[in-house]
Amino acid sequence: MFVCMCKKVTDGQLKQAVALGASSWEDVSRMTRCSTQCGKCTCLAQEIVDEALLDR
Ligand code: FES
Repeated sequence: MFVCMCKKVTDGQLKQAVALGASSWEDVSRMTRCSTQCGKCTCLAQEIVDEALLDR
């Protein structure tokens, strides 16, 4: 599912960034470009990343 419509980032891409070594929301945003335009996706994207970091 698309989380960030501006940059066409999916939840799977966010989780993959964590799997590839991202250790924070800022890392994931930098790697995927998620939340770098309008910012409306930030809350949901951060939730997904926080969950993925806990599951690691
Ligand atoms: Fe993610 Fe706009 S929806 S920056």
